[in-house]
Amino acid sequence: MVNFDYQTPTRLIFGRGVVAEKLASVMKNYGPRVLITYGGGSIKRSGLYDQVINILKDKEICELPGIEPNPKFNPSVLEGARICKEHNIDVILSVGGGSVLDCTKAIAGCACSDADPWDVVTMKVPTHKAIPIVDIITLAATGSEYDSGAVISRTKTNDKLAYFSKHVFPAVSFIDPTYTFTLPVKQTLAGVADCINHIMEQYFCGEHIEMNDAFMEGAIKSLMKNVRIVLREPDNYEARAEIFYATTLGCNGIYSLGNSESGWPMHSIEHALSGHYDITHGEGLAIVTPRWMRHILSDRTMERFVAFGTGVFGIDSSLPEREIAERAIQAIHNFYKEIGIPMTLREVGIDDSRIKEMAHHIAVNEGLENAWAPLYEDDIEAILRDCL
Ligand code: NZQ
Ligand code: ZN
Repeated sequence: MVNFDYQTPTRLIFGRGVVAEKLASVMKNYGPRVLITYGGGSIKRSGLYDQVINILKDKEICELPGIEPNPKFNPSVLEGARICKEHNIDVILSVGGGSVLDCTKAIAGCACSDADPWDVVTMKVPTHKAIPIVDIITLAATGSEYDSGAVISRTKTNDKLAYFSKHVFPAVSFIDPTYTFTLPVKQTLAGVADCINHIMEQYFCGEHIEMNDAFMEGAIKSLMKNVRIVLREPDNYEARAEIFYATTLGCNGIYSLGNSESGWPMHSIEHALSGHYDITHGEGLAIVTPRWMRHILSDRTMERFVAFGTGVFGIDSSLPEREIAERAIQAIHNFYKEIGIPMTLREVGIDDSRIKEMAHHIAVNEGLENAWAPLYEDDIEAILRDCL
């Protein structure tokens, strides 16, 4: 078991009706000037926007609408930071999915710095301070509501980069599973695939402990079971709540305290796909997952495949190890196909024309030669070609 030093300062307020119950009292802890950030309109259609505006009627409100999936540095981060500086914002309230919250985190850091905002986001300049963030998260996927990371895209360079700072942990996250009743099926599925992948990135590593294996296998099984339920019954509260609980824990390390680092290779590969083609993150991950597994399967990595195959899919442990591993890879592929996720790059509009460029981009920027299962440019290119 490896040493760890762990702290998550975020207060989670989880359950049906929590916004009506507690948002007003939470917001009283901050000054009067609030920036509300949101996306392309889902919160207006669901009525959440009106509810929030009504709860905050005594505050001085600025708004930053229109934050896109795969949130963009220009204009959203730049515009948000400008508003915060100009209006001396006391707190930012993010209302939406992971993209809105990630953008909000970058805004919160950039607004407290005189440095070039891109240098802040790329962490060339350290973040010493950020505007406090409260969020209402409406999509079960990223775990951004419980972590200190944000993923920001800069269109002109095809960059999609992770920004981290302990100062951008949300202070308070409101998680009401009923908000996910309105999700399009595509986003429900992509969110589940994103979380399964977050767990796999932590499961497929060198040093690992039994308790974490059981925790992660249980979470994946719960996600697989409950996504099948919500496909039939989109407003099944218990199933939506199980999914949201698993996704909220996904990225803050709690699934794998005491495990060694894997290097998160599938995320590195997917971020290049969505950085170059603006695809949906969870779909990109689902496509990459079985191809990455097949590529890194070896005698050295075999033990993880056997544990995963028997623990998650109940594959007969008396079978030869190689067969268990092969069946596990096929099982995850079949599961994604069954629930309706596109499982080739061509289905999401990506052909082979930029594979070399993306493989080079990943090899140069992501340090995957140091991953638990090291990947060099040729490996990455082979995985991407296999995804076509
Ligand atoms: O923009 P609106 O109109 O709000 O619509 C959104 C958007 O079109 C819609 N949506 C959100 N909640 C809804 C809803 N529609 C109906 N009902 C609701 N309740 O869903 C669409 C996608 O939203 P988005 O926020 O982009 O999805 P998600 O939460 O999956 O976030 C994806 C982004 O997070 C990054 C990804 O790379 C991607 O950029 N990630 C962030 C991480 C983190 N901060 O820790 C970790 C992840 O690995 C991931 O990389
Ligand atoms: Zn992810």
